[in-house]
Amino acid sequence: MRQLLPDPSPEADLVAVYGGPRAPRPGRPWLLANMIASADGSAALEGRSGGLGGPADRQVFHLLRSLADVVLVAAETVRVERYRPIREPRPVPVAVVSRSLALDLTQPLFAEAPARTIILTCEAADPGRRRQVAAVADVVVAGDEAVDPVLGLAALAERGHEVALCEGGPRLLAQLVAAGLVDELCLTVSPLLAGGGGPRILSGTVPAAPVRLVLDAALEDEGFLLLRYLIARAEPSAGTDVGG
Ligand SMILES: NC(=O)c1ccc[n+]([C@@H]2O[C@H](COP(=O)([O-])OP(=O)(O)OC[C@H]3O[C@@H](n4cnc5c(N)ncnc54)[C@H](OP(=O)(O)O)[C@@H]3O)[C@@H](O)[C@H]2O)c1
Repeated sequence: MRQLLPDPSPEADLVAVYGGPRAPRPGRPWLLANMIASADGSAALEGRSGGLGGPADRQVFHLLRSLADVVLVAAETVRVERYRPIREPRPVPVAVVSRSLALDLTQPLFAEAPARTIILTCEAADPGRRRQVAAVADVVVAGDEAVDPVLGLAALAERGHEVALCEGGPRLLAQLVAAGLVDELCLTVSPLLAGGGGPRILSGTVPAAPVRLVLDAALEDEGFLLLRYLIARAEPSAGTDVGG
C-alpha cells in the first residue's frame, strides 16, 4: 500500500497513519467512522458492502477495530451483514442501535460474544422484547421515540469507552454527523462504478450545513483509495430528517 499524503512513500506505515492518539471528547468517546463507497458513491452492491472491498480495505478495517474499545453499528447493518462478535486482537463489544429490537438473538453476536453485546435502544421499544434482549445483551435506553445519538454516546462513555468506531450503516452515520458527534472519517473509495440506487455513506438525516472535512492522509492500493479525514466542524447541529 503506498502513501500519497501527507508524505509520499512507496510503503505506507499504517500504524503511523491510523494509530495516533485519540482522546475522548467531553461526555463522549472519540468517534471515528469507517466506510466504503464505489467511485460513484454507492455504499452497497446488491444490498451489502462486501463486494466493494479489497485486501487493503480489509487490512484497515481490522486495524481500526484494534484501535477502538467499542464498535457502534446500526441494526439494519447487523441484519444484512450478519455481524459477528469481535475477538481479535482482543474482544471488543459491539453496540447495536435499534428501536424494533428485531434481531436474531441466537446468532453468535449474542450467544457467543466474549465481550457482551450492548443494545442502544429507546423507551418506545417493546418492553417484552427488551426483556428478551436483556437476557443476552446489555440493554441501554438512550432516548424516547428513537435513540438520541448524544445520549447513546454518553452511555458508552459512562461504561468507560474512550474510542468508538462506527461501522454504519448510512442512516445511523447521518444522524451522528448531523449531531456533530463524528470526529474522524476513514473512507475507502473502491475503483468500481456501481450504478443503481444504493445508499450513499450518509442517508436520511441531513446536517444543518455541509460538514467540512480535512484530509489527513491518503493511501492507494490496487486502485483503492484509502482516505483519512478529520471533521473540521465543532458545533453540534440538530439536522433535518428527510426520511429513508
Ligand atoms: N459502505 C459501507 O461502508 C457500509 C457500512 C455499513 C452498512 N452498509 C450498507 O448499508 C445498508 C444498511 O444501512 P441503512 O442505512 O439502511 O441502515 P442502518 O443505519 O444500518 O440501520 C438502520 C436501523 O438502525 C436502527 N436505528 C438507526 N437509527 C436509530 C435511532 N436513532 N434510534 C433507534 N434505532 C435506530 C433502526 O433499527 P430497527 O429497525 O431495528 O429499529 C434502523 O432501522 C446495507 O446495505 C449495508 O450493507 C454499508
